[in-house]
Amino acid sequence: MKNKILITGGAGFIGSAVVRQYIAETDFTVINLDKLTYAGNLQSLTAVSGNHQYRFEKVDICDAVEVARVFREHQPDVVMHLAAESHVDRSITGPAAFMQTNIVGTYILLEAARTYWNGLEGEHKVGFRFHHISTDEVFGSLGESGLFTEETPYEPNSPYSASKAASDHLVRAWHHTYGLPVITTNCSNNYGPYHFPEKLIPLMILNAVNGKPLPVYGNGDNIRDWLYVDDHARALRLVLEKGKPGETYNIGGFNEKTNLEVVRTICEILDELRPQNAPYARLITFVKDRPGHDHRYAIDAGKIARELGWRPSETFETGLRKTVLWYLENAEWVEGVTSGDYQKWIAQNYEQRII
Ligand code: NAD
Ligand code: TYD
Repeated sequence: MKNKILITGGAGFIGSAVVRQYIAETDFTVINLDKLTYAGNLQSLTAVSGNHQYRFEKVDICDAVEVARVFREHQPDVVMHLAAESHVDRSITGPAAFMQTNIVGTYILLEAARTYWNGLEGEHKVGFRFHHISTDEVFGSLGESGLFTEETPYEPNSPYSASKAASDHLVRAWHHTYGLPVITTNCSNNYGPYHFPEKLIPLMILNAVNGKPLPVYGNGDNIRDWLYVDDHARALRLVLEKGKPGETYNIGGFNEKTNLEVVRTICEILDELRPQNAPYARLITFVKDRPGHDHRYAIDAGKIARELGWRPSETFETGLRKTVLWYLENAEWVEGVTSGDYQKWIAQNYEQRII
C-alpha cells in the first residue's frame, strides 16, 4: 500500500498543484521538500498547510546530510522529484544554479533514495518508485513537422535543457546500474494558476492588466505545446501509480500554438473580461530574440494514452480562460509575488518557527 509520498519542489508551480491534488483527492501523506528559492512560494499551499496529511521540510536537494535525514525520518513509500531551476532565460544569464540543483541535486537525491531503498524490505521495497519529472526541451527543437516520442534522441540546446537532460541520464543510469525503480516523464509547457510571472503566460496577463508592454521574442512564431497544470498533475499521479519502472512517458497537451497566438488570445480574453478603452493587443511589442531560441516543441502523448489511459481534460481555450480569471481573482497572491512579499511571509511564518 503506497500512501506516503516525498515530493521535491512542492512549493513551485507544478509541485504545488501536485501537492494540492494529493491532499484534496487522496489519503496520501505528503512530505514537501523544498529549498524555497525565488520560485518556491508557500502562499501557493495555504489551502493545505494546516492539513494533517501535509508536512513541510525546508531543505536543499544538494544537502546530502539533510536529504538523508528526511528519508530516515519520514520513510516515504514513493518519491516524486520536481525540484529544479526551471527558467530558460535565467539559465542563459546564470547557468551555475542550474548545474548545481538540476544535476548535482538530482545525483544527491538518487544516492539518498538508493541507500534508503536498499534498506527496505518486502512490499515496501517492491513498491518503491523514484519518479523524475522532466521536460520535452531535452529533445531539442522540431522543424515544421514531426512530434517528440519517447524514442526521440536527446539534443538539448539551452543550459536549462542540457541540465535536465543530464539529470534524465543520471536517473536512467541509476536504474540500469543499481536497479533503482525509476520512472521519468517528459512534459511540454505547463500553464495555469500559481505560475511565477517570469514565464510567458502569467507575465503577459499581468503586464496587460497593468498597461505594460507585452514583450514577444523575435517575430513570435516559435511554437509550444501547452498543457494545463492540473492535467499534468493528474498524469504524474497516474504514472507513479501505474507506470513501469525503467520506462519513460511523454506528456503533452495536443495544443500547439505560436507565441503570438497565445499572447493575442490572452488579449482577447482580457478585452472581454476586463475591457479598457483600447484593445490589449496594442501593448504587444516585438523584442530581441532569446539566444538559441528553440523553434518548436510538440509532444506525441500516444504512449501514456494507450498504456495508462491518460488524456488531458482542458482544451487550450478552456484552460487559458480559467487561468486569466484566476489571475484576475487572486490579487493577494499576485501582489505577494510581484512585490516580493511572499519571501518576507516565508521568513515570518516559517523560518522564525524553526530557528
Ligand atoms: P518552479 O521553478 O515553479 O519550481 C521549482 C521548485 O523547486 C521551487 O519551489 C523551488 O523552491 C524548488 N527548488 C529549486 N531548487 C531547489 C533545491 N536546490 N532544493 C530544493 N528545492 C529546490 O518549477 P516548475 O515549473 O514547477 O517545474 C517543476 C519541474 O517540472 C521541474 O523539474 C521542471 O524542469 C519540470 N517541468 C516544468 C515544465 C513547465 O512548463 N513549467 C514543463 C515540463 C517539465
Ligand atoms: P517560457 O514561458 O519562458 O517557457 P520555455 O522557454 O521553457 O518554453 O517561454 C515560452 C515561449 O515564450 C518561448 O518561446 C519564449 C517566449 N517568450 C516571449 O516571447 N516573451 C517573454 O517575455 C517570455 C518570458 C517568453
